[in-house]
Amino acid sequence: MSEVRNQDEVIYQVHDLSVNLRRRGQERVILKSLSFDVRKEECLSIVGPSGTGKTTLLRALAGLIPYAGSVRYLGETLDGPASDVVLVFQDYVNALLRWRTVQKNVALGIEGRIPRDQCQERIDEAIETVGLQNYRDSYPWELSGGMQQRVQIARALAMKPKVLLFDEPFGSLDAMTREGLQDELLRVRSVFQATCVFITHDIDEAVYLGDRLMLLSGSPASLSFEVDIHLGETRNQISTKESGEFLSLRHQVHEQMRKAHGASQSTN
Ligand SMILES: Nc1ncnc2c1ncn2[C@@H]1O[C@H](COP(=O)(O)OP(=O)(O)OP(=O)(O)O)[C@@H](O)[C@H]1O
Ligand SMILES: [Mg+2]
Repeated sequence: MSEVRNQDEVIYQVHDLSVNLRRRGQERVILKSLSFDVRKEECLSIVGPSGTGKTTLLRALAGLIPYAGSVRYLGETLDGPASDVVLVFQDYVNALLRWRTVQKNVALGIEGRIPRDQCQERIDEAIETVGLQNYRDSYPWELSGGMQQRVQIARALAMKPKVLLFDEPFGSLDAMTREGLQDELLRVRSVFQATCVFITHDIDEAVYLGDRLMLLSGSPASLSFEVDIHLGETRNQISTKESGEFLSLRHQVHEQMRKAHGASQSTN
C-alpha cells in the first residue's frame, strides 16, 4: 500500500504490523498484517467500525503495546513509548484533572521538564490557540464538554509534539460543537504543522479533516482501502461538504465500508 518516499518525509513506516491481545487467558489477533506510512505534516484519517481495532492501532503507534512486524518511528524501530507523540482521547472528563485549573491541566505534560518561563509561554500560547484565554483559572467542571476537549488539545499542543494521535476526540460532542472543533483543529494544524493520525468512525469527519484516508475493517482488522483527499487547505463546513470532490470521496468510503462489512459478515 505504501510507496517509496524520501525518508525525511516519513514519520512512521509500518510494515506487516500485527497485534495480539490477551483477555481472560485467551489470545486474539486484533490487527493483522498492516503496512502503511504516515507522512510528515499530513493528517491521516483512519475510519473503521466500532470494535475493529482503531484504538489498538493508535496504542501501537504510541509505542504502548507489544506488536509483531515492523514499526519505524523517525527512522528507528519503535520499542517503547514514542517520544514527541501525544494521544488525545474521546474521554476528556477522565483525561483532565478536576482539581486543577485550565492552566494547570495544560501544564501537565511539560511542567518540570522545561524552564518555568518557557513553560508559561507555551501554556499561554496553547490556551490562546484554542480560544480559552478567558478561562485560564476555571476548573474543568465549570466548562462545557467542547471547552474541556479544547483543554485536552491545548495540553497536547503545549508539548509541541511531532505527532498527534487523535482517538475519536469529538465523538461525544453535539454536532455544532463538533464542527466548531473540527475547524479549530484545521486552524491549529496550519499553525503548529504537527503530523496527525485522526481516528473516527464518522466518514464525513474523516474526509473533512484528512489529507489521506484509510479504512480499517474485518476481524482480525486489516487495511482494506486508501485514498488521497484533495480538498485544499481551506475547508468550510458548508461549501466543502457540498463540493463534488467531498461527495465523491464520502460515497467511495461508504461503499468500501459496506463492502468490508458484507465480507466480514459472510466469513463470520
Ligand atoms: N486490553 C485488551 N485486551 C484484550 N482485548 C482487547 C483489549 N483492548 C481491546 N481489546 C479488543 O480488541 C478489539 C479492538 O478494540 P479497540 O478498542 O481497538 O477497537 P476500536 O475500533 O477502537 O473500537 P471503538 O470504535 O468502539 O472505540 C475489541 O474486540 C476489544 O474487545
Ligand atoms: Mg476505540
